[in-house]
Amino acid sequence: MTKKIDPCTLVLFGANGNLSRVKLMPGLFRLDMLGRLPDEMKILSVGRQEVVLDAWRTDIKGMLDAKFKNGYDQKIFERFIARNFYHTNAPTDPDAFNKMKATLSNEKVFPQNLAYFLSVRPTDFALVVEQLSGVGLLDESKYWRRVLIEKPFGTDLQSAQDLQAKISKHLKESQIYRIDHYLGKSALQNVMFTRFTNAMFEPIWNNQYIDHVQITNNEILGVGDRTKFYDSTGALCDMIQSHLLQTLALVAMEKPEDLSPQNIRAEKIKLLESIRPIPVNDLNKHAFRAQYAAGRVCVADGHGENVHGYLEELAKEGVTESVTETYAALKLFIDNPRWKGVPFYVRTAKRMHEGNTGISIRFKQAPMQLVTDQHQNWLTLNIQPRECIKMEIESKIPGLDIATRTLSIDAPQRQHDDETIDSYEALMLNLMEGDPSLYLHISEVEAQWRLVDPVVKAWAADKKPVHQYRAGSRDPEESSIIFESKDQFWRYSIELGGDKH
Ligand code: BG6
Repeated sequence: MTKKIDPCTLVLFGANGNLSRVKLMPGLFRLDMLGRLPDEMKILSVGRQEVVLDAWRTDIKGMLDAKFKNGYDQKIFERFIARNFYHTNAPTDPDAFNKMKATLSNEKVFPQNLAYFLSVRPTDFALVVEQLSGVGLLDESKYWRRVLIEKPFGTDLQSAQDLQAKISKHLKESQIYRIDHYLGKSALQNVMFTRFTNAMFEPIWNNQYIDHVQITNNEILGVGDRTKFYDSTGALCDMIQSHLLQTLALVAMEKPEDLSPQNIRAEKIKLLESIRPIPVNDLNKHAFRAQYAAGRVCVADGHGENVHGYLEELAKEGVTESVTETYAALKLFIDNPRWKGVPFYVRTAKRMHEGNTGISIRFKQAPMQLVTDQHQNWLTLNIQPRECIKMEIESKIPGLDIATRTLSIDAPQRQHDDETIDSYEALMLNLMEGDPSLYLHISEVEAQWRLVDPVVKAWAADKKPVHQYRAGSRDPEESSIIFESKDQFWRYSIELGGDKH
């Protein structure tokens, strides 16, 4: 179903930054290739540097050449490049936003429905909103005005609420688009559809049949050149507070009444608010953290590469000690009748032996146990790199004896000619369509911070050296302390075998 998009101007703050160069500009070009941008749509890139339009357009060509190595249609390129304009917003110029208003007021060039994408420092979110409002650029009396706010929305509950208080002086909730790029991933969107467009899952999607759920994001990459940001953030806030709790909400929420943004968000809010607070007085059994030490990881071409440990990387930046985690695992319980007693293990780590994001659900013991270590059924909804649904079932081995083995039904979600849409492409389209279903409501953000804040505080206060794991290894053995029962173990990627420690 293609939705209609009003003629509009996308105003891209932070257009010179990495996100814009690598994802947003190429993403907008792809949307243009797919014929999804309205003819009149324009892009006004806003940056601190002074850049003349021709140079900016040449720069954009470089961004596209880097992304689309096999080339692209020249006609579409020309159409796309003609949509692009640049505005210098010098931070020292007190009149900068008035000048931006003057630029945008040229109605012959810029459609007056305005979508602002704030890819700026989080400390500038409120300031930009305030300044846009100050010159009347958020006024919706004639045209719509929407503001997309990048992650993170706050660094804890208090700062999220402060940010909300500041921006809501100038914006209605319907104008605010808080991004979580995981919601733009099609395999994650499919979780809800898998659950509710099939009759077979709903009856078993509860504590009667499910033993536990694992939600995992493992990466081979380290913190890269983001040491400063990462050291003040950590794995828990960087990944679990946002992307993985949203994933959990989609796995565990009740069926929304319909697919309207209000009803989808309402179910996610209800679910997030029913996660039991993590007991900080018994934290060791509910949360585990670690840092990667030097080791060897697998790189793109299958070869190994020796890499430094996290603390060594920090030392290069002059930071001599840190208890910031690059591995975080939580055990969560949901206080509602469907999930009573079912642990949800949520984990994320950098510099692991493999990069994989997925949801693995283990079912309870089958009614018939033929051998002592008979496998329990697993259902995996894998998000990346493979997008697939995989079910593991026990089956009799043909022959005279009674013995079973595990079979897997492995269905790739992606057929070879399916569209590959980057999450930012989907989300930018939703922003222009005015569809906030895949954006976060403030209540979701608050519930997520409320849950992780006590753990963040407790970990920050505990200055004992943090457990180390070798880069390129699997989960630290010690992390299994959070499991509810001895027969639980971390699932790795979707290949069967070698899953048990
Ligand atoms: C970002 C985090 O939000 O998500 C990064 O800040 C992380 O640390 C990234 O690597 C993961 O996103 P994706 O889409 O590559 O799984």
